[in-house]
Amino acid sequence: MAAISSVTGAPHAAILGIGAYRPSREIPNSEVVEAIDSSDEWIQQRSGIKQRRWATPEETIQLMSVGAAREAIERAGIVPEQIDCVIVATVTHLLQTPAIATAIAHELGTQNAAAFDISAACAGFCHGVSLAADMVRSGSAGHALVIGVERLSDITDLYDRGTAFIFADGAGAAVVGPSDTPGIGPVVWGSDGEQYDLIRQKEDWRDVVGTPTVPGSGVMPHLVMEGNPVFRWASFAMAKVGQQALDRAGIGVDDLDVFVPHQANMRIIDAMARSMKLPQHVRIARDIAEQGNTSAASIPLALHRMIEEGEARSGDTALLIAFGAGLAYAAQVVTVP
Ligand SMILES: CC(C)(COP(=O)(O)OP(=O)(O)OC[C@H]1O[C@@H](n2cnc3c(N)ncnc32)[C@H](O)[C@@H]1OP(=O)(O)O)[C@@H](O)C(=O)NCCC(=O)NCCS
Repeated sequence: MAAISSVTGAPHAAILGIGAYRPSREIPNSEVVEAIDSSDEWIQQRSGIKQRRWATPEETIQLMSVGAAREAIERAGIVPEQIDCVIVATVTHLLQTPAIATAIAHELGTQNAAAFDISAACAGFCHGVSLAADMVRSGSAGHALVIGVERLSDITDLYDRGTAFIFADGAGAAVVGPSDTPGIGPVVWGSDGEQYDLIRQKEDWRDVVGTPTVPGSGVMPHLVMEGNPVFRWASFAMAKVGQQALDRAGIGVDDLDVFVPHQANMRIIDAMARSMKLPQHVRIARDIAEQGNTSAASIPLALHRMIEEGEARSGDTALLIAFGAGLAYAAQVVTVP
């Protein structure tokens, strides 16, 4: 049997830079309420959302990803040629193949970086960070770029009362690279396929191709969601996952500076913070109020805003926790770059 060489990577991995792209269209609640017989007051009270951002036709998945990635790369202090792998987490790149990651890697100017998309819905970014950290530590990539990007407005039924006011567009990116000290804790991730149907694409592509109208919408398949069970699951089960991520990182809630949960609903964020008994000093991401729920982009966008506004500082300890369709989830403790 031939001896196969193996490689090892950096002793530790960390997030070295974060970038964001927020689409140009700001859509206040007043613009979505008529179609769903709702009100600004109801939406703010039930979800905490004041407005969301939707992309223009020109703000494509690729354009938003490249915008966020360029900022993350610059902040990481590296050049695109140093990126060995590009991971794009998205559920709204609406071509089945090829992966949009390859076009993004090319436009950024990487040197033939490995590039692929992953589908873990709102949990996609934290899945990507975990994969990237493992790559850097194992030696399969020197630096890896993780992008969370969505154009959920493309697959949102504007007449659906349960989703039309929630979903939004945007991109966030992180460069993961070598570090002298651990900057990304062990991931706690998993799935609950028994609840596979709670958030889903309503129509199969095969059923809509060539169909002139799908009820309520035109020809696009849409997202549907059973809001109540998702709300209960996220508020309680995910607080436990957050605690497990702290345990695995060997820290307690008192050691946390920043909490960045998936921006699904302000009430879920508050319920998780209460369940986890987060102390007063822990600063909590509340990007959803201005941005809406951007699925895979929500965590890097929220962290980026906290960094911009001085609420998260370099060296702070942050808990990231992402969850959504699948149901899939992933959480890890990270050091803010
Ligand atoms: C979607 C969500 C905000 C709905 O809130 P809710 O409190 O569960 O609302 P319900 O569906 O129980 O409906 C409560 C009432 O509001 C009404 N309602 C529902 N949608 C409404 C809307 N868009 N506008 C106004 N009223 C609405 C219902 O008709 C119902 O009225 P009734 O009490 O007179 O029967 C909430 O379930 C939620 O946030 N779920 C999780 C969403 C999420 O996190 N998704 C992403 C996961 S990645």
